[in-house]
Amino acid sequence: MHERILIIDFGSQVTQLIARRVRESGVYSEIHPFNTVTVETIKAFNPKGVILSGGPASVTGIDTPRAPDGLFDMGLPILGICYGEQTMCEQLGGKVEESDSREFGRAYVDVIEDCDLFHGMWTVGTKEQVWMSHGDKITKIPEGFRPVAVTDGAPFAAIANDAKHFYGVQFHPEVVHTPHGAQLIENFTHRICGCAGDWTMDKFREEEISKIRAQVGEGRVICGLSGGVDSSVVAVLLHEAIGDQLTCVLVDTGMMRKNEVKDVIKMFKEHYDIKLVLADAAYLFIGKLEGVSDPEKKRKIIGATFIDVFEEEAKNVGGAEFLAQGTLYPDVIESVSFTGGPSVTIKSHHNVGGLPERMNMKLIEPLRELFKDEVRVLGRELGLPESFVGRHPFPGPGLAIRLPGGISKEKLEILRNADWVYLDEIKKSGLYDEIWQAFVVLLPVQTVGVMGDARTYDFVCALRAVTSTDGMTADFYHFDMEFLARVSNRIINEVKGINRVTYDITSKPPGTIEWE
Ligand code: XMP
Repeated sequence: MHERILIIDFGSQVTQLIARRVRESGVYSEIHPFNTVTVETIKAFNPKGVILSGGPASVTGIDTPRAPDGLFDMGLPILGICYGEQTMCEQLGGKVEESDSREFGRAYVDVIEDCDLFHGMWTVGTKEQVWMSHGDKITKIPEGFRPVAVTDGAPFAAIANDAKHFYGVQFHPEVVHTPHGAQLIENFTHRICGCAGDWTMDKFREEEISKIRAQVGEGRVICGLSGGVDSSVVAVLLHEAIGDQLTCVLVDTGMMRKNEVKDVIKMFKEHYDIKLVLADAAYLFIGKLEGVSDPEKKRKIIGATFIDVFEEEAKNVGGAEFLAQGTLYPDVIESVSFTGGPSVTIKSHHNVGGLPERMNMKLIEPLRELFKDEVRVLGRELGLPESFVGRHPFPGPGLAIRLPGGISKEKLEILRNADWVYLDEIKKSGLYDEIWQAFVVLLPVQTVGVMGDARTYDFVCALRAVTSTDGMTADFYHFDMEFLARVSNRIINEVKGINRVTYDITSKPPGTIEWE
């Protein structure tokens, strides 16, 4: 079994970044909600160390979350981050109080003592940038601890109990705004917990293949293929594991981009000899979505319709009992309040929160614990051509979530044409690989314009382009104005039905990448 780090989640919106940083250090990690963790589950998980996440609650409140008390007697190294540091202090006899001087955003810590956490990065006497987000403050640390870094607002910005290997930081080392944060986490996993870093993609691939073989046996599997990197990686991984027992199904939802269905089939057939069927379900999806404008309702209908189509296709291939899909870790985190945990649901990704309760097939989701950039690494490991690996993500619900309000065939056609022009310009300008994802959103708003000598009353569209590493946070892409002017001109001239173009300059958070 791999070396593992357990992350106990107290509901911070950035807990998943802790998992990323731990995995980047070559150590497997999982996030478990605080309310599901007991001494027994920790023993069963057998971690080399435990990280306590941040969270929105206040340690000073009544009945707010705590780590299981027995955790501190298990002899495991522990790193408490923000709320995690505070609850560790409180549970070990220290004191946390509400404070008037809250610290949010960039801050600077003074490093006052050496500490294993700072090895190779910070030395005594320096001032270092970190990212803070806290209201309460620790006013007394438990016996055995010493302060190792301070800020004006947090006299215990970092603390250490070297004998027990307990550490706490008030700042967030998992976010990029703490420039040496990744190294601090690696110091914890390697130097303090003694991990060697045995989690690599080739091992992951081998293990997933054995797991799939064990799960499927002689059974048949259908795999939903969209042509995006996730489902392509799943298809190739499954094919490696079970060969001809696999049939891929490309569902034409009627909400795909222009030429997409044709292009995906061509691309796949050129490179792979894997069984692929096309399920033409456009009429079904569009029919069910008629008159529906609530984003979550749309997502649920789409999730359920996908399953109807897959169940039908499962019969057609002689009774497949397994459905494979390219669900990613962020889909899981954002869709469900993490396995019943304390963070809130952002949106129901179609293949997780959008799944119907009644479902006859068993799911195979080999990427469920991976982030997008990890999937790309796995794709390269599996020898997928760059044309697959480098494709922009495209959501399962497709253009339906890029048409706020109700959808119609006419609107879909307008959106498809505008989207095609936009991506064509991006590719021609050599920007495709610099951008994580770019698309057009067609707004349910009409405005007045003048074209030639005539009045127009047509739709407005918004262009969206973002940079990101994993889709969890994103910045809008900073196009130059010439480029935007060119796209705007082309869309208005070439796409009937649009007379105004805007550019979305919202990052994530506070926005999400898609509009719905
Ligand atoms: P958001 O909009 O949540 O998107 O910031 C993050 C990434 O996920 C994609 N996305 C989805 N992908 N099914 C998918 O397969 C979905 O239901 C879904 N919703 C969002 C989105 O395109 C972006 O890359």
